[in-house]
Amino acid sequence: MPYATVQADSGLSKPVTILTLRKMKAEKVKFVSVALYDAPLAAMAQKCGVEVLLVGDSLGMTVLGYDSTIPVTMEQMIYHVEAVRRGNSKSLIMGDLPFMSYATTEQAMVNATRIMRAGAHMVKMEGGAWLADSVRMLSERGIPVCAHLGLTPQSVNKFGGFRVQGREAEQAEQILADAKILDQAGADLLVLECVPTELAERITAAVSMPTIGIGAGQGTDAQVLVINDILGLTEKPPKFSKNFLVEAGDIPGALHKYANDVKTGVFPGPEHTFG
Ligand code: KIV
Repeated sequence: MPYATVQADSGLSKPVTILTLRKMKAEKVKFVSVALYDAPLAAMAQKCGVEVLLVGDSLGMTVLGYDSTIPVTMEQMIYHVEAVRRGNSKSLIMGDLPFMSYATTEQAMVNATRIMRAGAHMVKMEGGAWLADSVRMLSERGIPVCAHLGLTPQSVNKFGGFRVQGREAEQAEQILADAKILDQAGADLLVLECVPTELAERITAAVSMPTIGIGAGQGTDAQVLVINDILGLTEKPPKFSKNFLVEAGDIPGALHKYANDVKTGVFPGPEHTFG
């Protein structure tokens, strides 16, 4: 069944929960996510109908000037989750667990608790089947988890650069298998970053949790972009991103156009995707 074409809300009327997102997946209505890091933009995103805010560890690169997400600390994540939560009372807020803060299940428990206490509704962790025990443990104890597969930037040194993942058949099958395992373990959302469109479609059909794509084509249940890319602040924007400020003229207009283009299936176009 194709996705429904709906216009973006002109403001979220009630809080978004994981149940809202599961219902949207079931009804084939796309939802929208933005990675952002501060209260004023979080408030604006609420007014523009952005259902999910990601306080991503991308803040290491977009705000703090590092060349990867590796240096980001728990304290920096907590500071920004608190700020975003103060600006927004309706979107579902996901907080990233930074590099090596969830290497063991015990670390995952301690640090996910800190992110939740800072105001997040959900934590995000990068990795495949090895994370299943942590996902299960957090989920059983009341912490929703967003998994993240494909190009997982915390593994940039292992990948040898920021590269599309899952182009070879064996790697694609591995990512699909990981997604199914994390779904079974109780993950509530899945970010798919920089994977071929066809693989993202297969994964979206195979798992019960909603999928959020970035550089993963049209076939995911939602899209996420980093606010710096939406607003044209990135010096060398990635292929999968789009500067919405150019056409829209102001920041609320850019956010609203992004949300609307996702919901009506205009974004991402073929020029933003990988084969
Ligand atoms: O940290 C982040 O902003 C992310 C998105 C790019 C998905 O993980």
